[in-house]
Amino acid sequence: MSDNELHYDNQVIHFLEDMWGDGFLSPGGAEEATLVVEGLDLRGKTVLDIGSGSGAIAVLLAGTLGAKKVIGIDVEEPVVNEARQRAAAAGLSDRIDIQLVEPGPFPFPENSFDIVYSKDSIIHIPDKETLSRDVYRVLRPGGWFAASDWLISHDNTPSPEMQDYITAEDLDFAMASPGRYTRALADVGFSQISLRNRNPWYREVAAGELNRLTGPERSKLEQAHGETFIADQVSTWSKMMPVLKSGEHCPHHIRGQKPS
Ligand SMILES: C[S@@+](CC[C@H](N)C(=O)[O-])C[C@H]1O[C@@H](n2cnc3c(N)ncnc32)[C@H](O)[C@@H]1O
Repeated sequence: MSDNELHYDNQVIHFLEDMWGDGFLSPGGAEEATLVVEGLDLRGKTVLDIGSGSGAIAVLLAGTLGAKKVIGIDVEEPVVNEARQRAAAAGLSDRIDIQLVEPGPFPFPENSFDIVYSKDSIIHIPDKETLSRDVYRVLRPGGWFAASDWLISHDNTPSPEMQDYITAEDLDFAMASPGRYTRALADVGFSQISLRNRNPWYREVAAGELNRLTGPERSKLEQAHGETFIADQVSTWSKMMPVLKSGEHCPHHIRGQKPS
């Protein structure tokens, strides 16, 4: 992917890390990333992390949560470089393998992973049905898909407010509804499917983020990232708040098990 096609270039990476913590390109840090796999024991397991970003989550999965091996895949080179450096700095290069891949089918044989994890990355993958089939294929029998993703609450045309927000993000968002996710997972054979709506949590967190962007921290952020860039972010966050308040923008945790 050439630099002018990147969604997560170095400027975006460093801004998001200022908002969400070193190595995190989605909200909630280690606490929220851990909640995605709540109740699952990762010790000794082989984990695929779809959309591994700048790598803090791969380090969390292999480090604190004890996975034997984490394969992180991502489609953009700057985040892949960041993630590899982060894994090396954590002394985990032998257990974390970050791969730059093309969008599309996973380059792994069937039954390769105990857990397929993803945090707020599948929003960039429009075809949830094909994705679900491929996740099922690479999971071992008994293995779990455990993801967080940004969803839209319905299958209709987005409201004007939602469309305005999606356009402002300029990140190729392809949001699907809880119903579409559930059907996509069930149709390929997943059992134990569950979805947990994280809108009530994120709408509070996002209000705090907008306060940071517009309050005393703004001048520091402007010095680091430029006034125009921060003004654009304030505009995007301001457009996000109404659709979080209405519930149309509804991040979810998503689970399903490949039957044994
Ligand atoms: C919002 S970031 C989240 C990164 C990381 N999971 C985190 O929570 O910090 C979304 C990531 O998904 C990646 N991505 C986009 N399309 C993808 C695809 N088809 N396959 C894998 N990763 C993809 C992006 O490059 C980006 O790094």
